[in-house]
Amino acid sequence: MKHKNLIDLEYMTRDQLEHTIMLAGAIKERPEIYKHACDGKIMATLFFEPSTRTQMSFQTAMMRLGGNTIGFDNPMNSSVAKGENLKDTISMVSSYADIIAMRHPAEGSAKAASLYSSVPVINCGDGGHYHPTQTLTDVITLNYEKGRLNNLRIGLCGDLLNGRTVHSLIKTMCRYEGNSFVLISTKELSVPQYIKNIMEKAGCEYTEVDNLVDAIAELDVLYMTRIQRERFESEEEYQKQKGVFVLDTEKLALAKEDMIILHPLPRVDEIAIEVDDDPRACYFKQAEYGMYGRMALIALLLRSEDAFSFKSADPTVDKEHKCTNEKCIVNDPQQHYLPKNTYEKDGHICCDYCDHIIE
Ligand code: NCD
Repeated sequence: MKHKNLIDLEYMTRDQLEHTIMLAGAIKERPEIYKHACDGKIMATLFFEPSTRTQMSFQTAMMRLGGNTIGFDNPMNSSVAKGENLKDTISMVSSYADIIAMRHPAEGSAKAASLYSSVPVINCGDGGHYHPTQTLTDVITLNYEKGRLNNLRIGLCGDLLNGRTVHSLIKTMCRYEGNSFVLISTKELSVPQYIKNIMEKAGCEYTEVDNLVDAIAELDVLYMTRIQRERFESEEEYQKQKGVFVLDTEKLALAKEDMIILHPLPRVDEIAIEVDDDPRACYFKQAEYGMYGRMALIALLLRSEDAFSFKSADPTVDKEHKCTNEKCIVNDPQQHYLPKNTYEKDGHICCDYCDHIIE
């Protein structure tokens, strides 16, 4: 079955991804050509979790293509505050809008929403799981600022456990030859096992280190991330992790002249403000590329109902296995109606919503 949803970038073949990157570049060059591409179309932006860039860049992307937007960014102002479940919100909104861009705190929520939507669903972040349109933004930036998506030594630094942008980016860069990863984090915030499995399966070399100074000199790309305060059990736990990795001009002096610094933003304190003036700092440019990437994505998704040729593992309704990830949507009592779908991969039973390895 072909897909109309974008739950993760793996839903696109490499050709489709590269086509989207090229289209984003073309739109950036000649935006006037695309200003009626989505005339008469409506996008719903459903943000159950805070956002600045993702939400606003989707809204402006749709408007720059000639379309309109509806939606909410504070679920407390919607019927969610009255106890409405995700299924009902999505079933209804998909009869109002032609496309849905959604962010939700539960892992696997975008996949869950797609089961009840009659229009394409774009995952704008599902808890600590995936954030494909940030990765689209990241690869567009790499393509135009580094000139390639292969043979890159990529350092990822900060909250690699909860940073969904990190997970989506690693997965995507594993599809290109010769990339290797330096994972810079504390032990507590290292990447989840399922992401390590993906790197191993792809044959991508990776090392885990706890020191940015030692790692920086060999990198082509440094992807900084904030510590995801809202995903910690307690403020105390967060305070222990906060401020461990800070990129400043002193550390940057050790880096290659052509290394680029990316950050999905928002920044908290992990990049000193003084670094913004260094030509290697690409994070604000990156946010701009994101808008063109989202324009390309919306135009492609609305042009063809089955835009992507990704074939997901066939899920089975599995009464025997319960997802053991407490952050997964399937374990939210309000979403009790969700079928307990799992799939098998490499001898493991995985949750079809959050990809957590159940056994
Ligand atoms: C990221 C996110 O929401 O995951 N922000 C974004 O979309 N640009 C990164 C973050 O919140 O740290």
